[in-house]
Amino acid sequence: MKNVVILGSTGSIGKNALDVIRNLRHKYKVVGLSANSRWELLAKQVEEFKPKSVSLADGRWIKELKNKLPQNSVQILTGTDSVKEMVSRDDVDIVISAIVGAAGLPAAIEVIKNGKTLALANKEALVMAGGIIVSMAREKGVSIIPIDSEHSAILQALRAGHPNEVKKVIITASGGPFRDYPKEKLSEVTLEEALNHPTWQMGQKITIDSATLMNKALEIIEAKWLFNLDSTQIDVIIHPESIVHSLVEFCDGSVIAQMGLPDMKVPIQYALTYPYRENGNVESLDLAKLGSLNFRKPDMDKFPALRLGYEVVEKGGTMGVTLNAANEIAVQAFLDRKIKFTDITKTVEHVMKEHNFIKDPTLQDIMDADAHARKETKKCIS
Ligand SMILES: NC(=O)c1ccc[n+]([C@@H]2O[C@H](COP(=O)([O-])OP(=O)(O)OC[C@H]3O[C@@H](n4cnc5c(N)ncnc54)[C@H](OP(=O)(O)O)[C@@H]3O)[C@@H](O)[C@H]2O)c1
Repeated sequence: MKNVVILGSTGSIGKNALDVIRNLRHKYKVVGLSANSRWELLAKQVEEFKPKSVSLADGRWIKELKNKLPQNSVQILTGTDSVKEMVSRDDVDIVISAIVGAAGLPAAIEVIKNGKTLALANKEALVMAGGIIVSMAREKGVSIIPIDSEHSAILQALRAGHPNEVKKVIITASGGPFRDYPKEKLSEVTLEEALNHPTWQMGQKITIDSATLMNKALEIIEAKWLFNLDSTQIDVIIHPESIVHSLVEFCDGSVIAQMGLPDMKVPIQYALTYPYRENGNVESLDLAKLGSLNFRKPDMDKFPALRLGYEVVEKGGTMGVTLNAANEIAVQAFLDRKIKFTDITKTVEHVMKEHNFIKDPTLQDIMDADAHARKETKKCIS
C-alpha cells in the first residue's frame, strides 16, 4: 500500500488523480488533501477518502471547513507551514503536486526536502527554479515524475534506449483553439473562445496558456530540466488530434512515440505506478476509427510565446521565473477582460526584456525576481 498526498485536489488534475485512486484503492491510500479556497468540494473529498490531514491555503474559509467535518476526524491545517506539516509525515510515500502557478514552488521544495517522491503536474515550479529543484532532488535522491502528458510520454519513450543515445525529443501541441486563425484576427478573440480548448478539459490558467502556446513554452523549459536537454534537442510539432503525446528520437534514427486518447488519468496513473503499470480505467485507442493523424510545424510568428520558451532554455538564470510571473499576471488580466489576447505574450516579452538578469540565482533571488516581475507586469498593464 502506498500513501499519497494530493496538493490541489479540488482542481482538474486533483479530481482526475482522485479518480485514478478510486480505481486503485487496493494499492494507494489518500493520506492528505489540499486546496486553496473551495472548502465544500474539499470537505466532500475528505468524507469519501478519509485522509489523515487536510489543508486549506486561504484561511478565510477554515471555520466553514471545520464546521462541515466531524470533530477530530481529520487534522485541519492552514497557513504557510501547512503543506510542510502534511508532506513531512513519515507515512507519506508520494506527493502529487497539482497546485496551479507559482504557489506550487514552495510546496515542491518541501516535498523534495522531506525525501518524498514528487509526481509533478505543477510545471510552473520547474520553470521558475528548475536548476535549484533538480539539483536538490539529485542530492536528496528524490524522483520527480512528470504528470504533464507530453513529459510522461517522453519518460515512457526514453525507456526504449539509454540516455546518451537520445538525439532529441519532439513535444506535440494541439495548437489550441486558434491554430487555424489568421494572425491578424488574434487580437479580436474573446475570452469565451480562448477558454474553449478543442481536445483537453483543464483549469482556466492552463487553458489560456494552451491558446497562446505559452503552455508549450513552459513545457519546453520543463523538458530541459526534467531530461537535461539543450534547446537544439527540443522540437515542437503541432498535432491537432492530441493522440501522440510526444516522441523521442534516438541516435540510430528510431523514433519512439507514446499514444493514447487525450485523458489525463493515464499520465497521472503512470506517475503513481512508475516504473510499473496497473490496469487503467480509460477508453482504448481505436486508430482505424480515427483514420488519420496530422502534424505540422508551429508558426512562431503567430505564437511568439514559443520563441520566449526557447530563450529561457538558452539563457537560464532568472529568465524562467520572470516569464512565469509576467504570464500569470497577464493571463489573469485577460481573464478579467482588462487586456486583449495578443497582449498576454507581448507583455511577457516586454517584462523579460527589461528585467535585471541574474545568471546563477539563489532561491531568494528567484523569489525577488518573481515579485519584481509581477509588479512590473501590473504597471505595464495599467
Ligand atoms: N488540467 C490539466 O489537464 C493539466 C495538464 C497538464 C499539466 N497541468 C498543470 O497542473 C497544474 C494544475 O492545473 P489544473 O488545470 O488542475 O488547475 P485548476 O483546475 O485551476 O486547479 C488548481 C488547484 O490548485 C489549488 N490552488 C490554487 N491556488 C492555490 C494556492 N495559492 N495555494 C494552494 N493551492 C492552490 C486550487 O484550489 P481551489 O480549487 O480551492 O481554488 C486547485 O485545487 C498546473 O500547473 C497545470 O499547468 C494541468
